[in-house]
Amino acid sequence: TPNEAGRYMLTQRESDVEILPGTRTRVWGYDGVFPGPTFDVRRGEPIIVDVRNELPAPTSTHLHGGVNPSDSDGYPTDVIVADGHDFDPGAGSHMATDADQWRLHRGGREYEYPVEQPAAMLWYHDHRMDFTAPQVWRGLCGMFIVRDDDEDRLELPSGDHELPLLLCDRAFNADGSFKYPSVDDSLLAEPGVTGDYHQGVEGDVLLVNGAPWPTTSVDNGSYRLRLLNASNARRFELALDDGGRFTQIGSDQGLLAAPQVLETITIAPGERFDVIVDFSGHDVGDRVVLRNLLGTGAAAEVMRFSVDRAKGTRYRVPKRLSEPPAIAVEDSVGDRKFAFALTNHEHGQMWTINGKPFDPADSLATVKIDTVERWMFSSDFHHPVHVHLGHFQVLNRNGKPPAPEDAGWKDTVDLRPYEFVEVAVRFSGHRGRYMMHCHNLEHEDMAMMANFDVV
Ligand code: C2O
Ligand code: CU
Ligand code: CU
Repeated sequence: TPNEAGRYMLTQRESDVEILPGTRTRVWGYDGVFPGPTFDVRRGEPIIVDVRNELPAPTSTHLHGGVNPSDSDGYPTDVIVADGHDFDPGAGSHMATDADQWRLHRGGREYEYPVEQPAAMLWYHDHRMDFTAPQVWRGLCGMFIVRDDDEDRLELPSGDHELPLLLCDRAFNADGSFKYPSVDDSLLAEPGVTGDYHQGVEGDVLLVNGAPWPTTSVDNGSYRLRLLNASNARRFELALDDGGRFTQIGSDQGLLAAPQVLETITIAPGERFDVIVDFSGHDVGDRVVLRNLLGTGAAAEVMRFSVDRAKGTRYRVPKRLSEPPAIAVEDSVGDRKFAFALTNHEHGQMWTINGKPFDPADSLATVKIDTVERWMFSSDFHHPVHVHLGHFQVLNRNGKPPAPEDAGWKDTVDLRPYEFVEVAVRFSGHRGRYMMHCHNLEHEDMAMMANFDVV
């Protein structure tokens, strides 16, 4: 909750919480909780978030999907170091970043969020150079909901009929502690755990808002599920086991122009889907399972809805949801290509963009503010490509029309192996240095990031 001046305090600290029944897990949480507190803010009401770091490691907080000044974007080398902790920029770095690329804040800093963007569900998470994956794995992430008048007019299911669902996976040791197979991070390494995590780290326990396979009590009405995939590397294909459909009303950056019905939803790390589900065909006592068709064993199930009350209200989804700003690809002033691929490099194999591992001192593109460009992303593997500041629409996949799940304004797109995805992207709101990267967090840490400059 903010004070009168729209100022929020967030303290990053360790705490021991019960995630698996009967065990304790040490998390690194915003305010000591995992996931962190959910923000609920309104367009046109700027906020300041004062983040204090009390953790034994540097942090940087990025608001994913936010249209924010570059200085508040949570750049990987713009870090907060807790009081009383030393900082050695080179320690454990895959990327050997030059010392002059770092900016240090002692104890804490302010992030300014203008909140001048349409209603959408964003999320915030750690973005520290080389260590984003282990730090998010330890719990540094949370949801950030933006509301506006246009969305209010739709009178969508709200209150306890609106369920923001942060989905992720984790692995655990027998004592309940998080298991992360990093070998080169002395602070986080679990002795004896090694492994090839080039494909990204997946866990065998699925969590929804930090709880394993929860059951939520519902009535037989309509619910708004705001789905976020906050996993490091896991993709989900979501389906309801009663054959129920998802009526998608929004994507990463807010409402679609018109709803669409999806039988399943493939959601990659970083992506969001805003959907209406309807339990009106159910009797009290029924259970509906949200399945993950890409998962095996316990990972094939995400959560359950237990229909406990009758007389739910059914929501009728309007045919027209929004008048999203038009983006005319004919107006494109530039064509660029970005290849996401594993390449051989002096430090061994690295995940790169256009053959280059991330270098904070380098920029791959300079774009003009408020112009449209066509960007072509290509991939050798699964790479959820995320662009800071800019929002885009998917034009085609491998030259064919986009998938239904590509609809709307996006900031993250799920690239599959050997795919070419073309998008029309626009950068508005702020000039400065921003970045794009793969949102498989292990790939991100293994250098699959690039700067671009908005001028
Ligand atoms: Cu959610 Cu730069 O990332
Ligand atoms: Cu982002
Ligand atoms: Cu990747």
